[in-house]
Amino acid sequence: MSRSILITGGAGFIGSHLADELLRAGYKVRALDSLTEQVHGTGAARPSYLSPDVELIVGDVRDADAVRRALRGIDAVYHLAAAVGVGQSMYEIAHYTDVNNRGTAVLLEALAERPVERLVVASSMSIYGEGLYRRSDGSVQTNAERSIEQLKAGLWEPRSEDGEALAPVATPEWKPPCLSSVYALSKFDQERMCLMVGRAYEIPTVALRFFNVYGPRQALSNPYTGVLAIFAARLLNDKPPLIFEDGEQQRDFVSVHDVAHACQLALEAGSAVDHVFNIGSGQHFTVKEIAQRIGRAVGKEYIDVVVNGKYRVGDIRNCFADITLARDLLGYAPKVGLDDGLRELAEWLAEQSAEDNVDKASQELAERGLTV
Ligand SMILES: NC(=O)c1ccc[n+]([C@@H]2O[C@H](COP(=O)([O-])OP(=O)(O)OC[C@H]3O[C@@H](n4cnc5c(N)ncnc54)[C@H](O)[C@@H]3O)[C@@H](O)[C@H]2O)c1
Repeated sequence: MSRSILITGGAGFIGSHLADELLRAGYKVRALDSLTEQVHGTGAARPSYLSPDVELIVGDVRDADAVRRALRGIDAVYHLAAAVGVGQSMYEIAHYTDVNNRGTAVLLEALAERPVERLVVASSMSIYGEGLYRRSDGSVQTNAERSIEQLKAGLWEPRSEDGEALAPVATPEWKPPCLSSVYALSKFDQERMCLMVGRAYEIPTVALRFFNVYGPRQALSNPYTGVLAIFAARLLNDKPPLIFEDGEQQRDFVSVHDVAHACQLALEAGSAVDHVFNIGSGQHFTVKEIAQRIGRAVGKEYIDVVVNGKYRVGDIRNCFADITLARDLLGYAPKVGLDDGLRELAEWLAEQSAEDNVDKASQELAERGLTV
């Protein structure tokens, strides 16, 4: 008999792709999702992209009864439901803590009553804060940070304690977290809580730290999520992508298909249990380059990007993934290159209209002193 899988947040961007991946592999899939307005729009109905084979339970992960109902007959759980904006988490502090931390706690209480064969939790690269850096003498620095004074002066790159330039290098899982937003704090909390309670109740648990995930179905009207979706929403409205700092910050953009596949591997690989894994592409690009490439991909290369020289509280400069551990223990090998990924995104975008809420979001942050 095929195994039944529950995905919390399964109507969202990553969850819906994961559902497709699992259905293709012969699993039964149920989603528990509250269809939040910020992601799904007002009066949200079941998203049309969600496979009809997914059983959708509309409910909140903080609602213990809904969670218990959703767990009936389930063999394994992916916990993806979360509020997902770094900037927004710095002023909707109670909401982020409630959905992400308490939501996970409610789910874990239900799982403690009724353990499953596997729990996979979505964590995030944001927990690292700055990625790993190398000093000129070859040693690594794990705790690079930037002072507000430095940022106000437009000195964007982190420096060593001696004021020496540092070179960003791929970040492995062992780099200690440096939590610089309420969102990051909540993702670390989710990850630790799942691993801890999983161990206590013998629920084999795996945590996946996703890097910058992109692809079709990412909510374009949500100004707080993926940077590629935000740039795309601007371009669709004939507005320039808005880039903070100088645009030279580096990130790891990973296709949602590779992420969905990594999730499936985490369900099946015995050696994955009790581990955390970076799930990225293993490549890195500057944010400015990404903005220009998505511009070209959607045929709007004539719109110049705007580099605003501002800084958002909680933003980091460079972080990209070392994916060696996922390669070794999960057998993870990203397959979608950036050009192919952007082409697919552009094709999907051509059929979308996007409400561009970036100016509103920038204003929210500025009013609260969260940009300088
Ligand atoms: N997209 C990325 O780049 C990225 C990077 C790192 C980590 N993650 C993590 O991956 C997971 C999925 O992210 P996504 O990009 O698909 O986001 P998304 O917003 O598209 O999906 C999240 C889903 O969770 C649902 N949800 C929110 N609050 C809920 C609640 N209280 N109860 C039930 N459902 C609720 C939303 O309606 C939405 O469908 C999240 O945990 C996120 O933190 C995403």
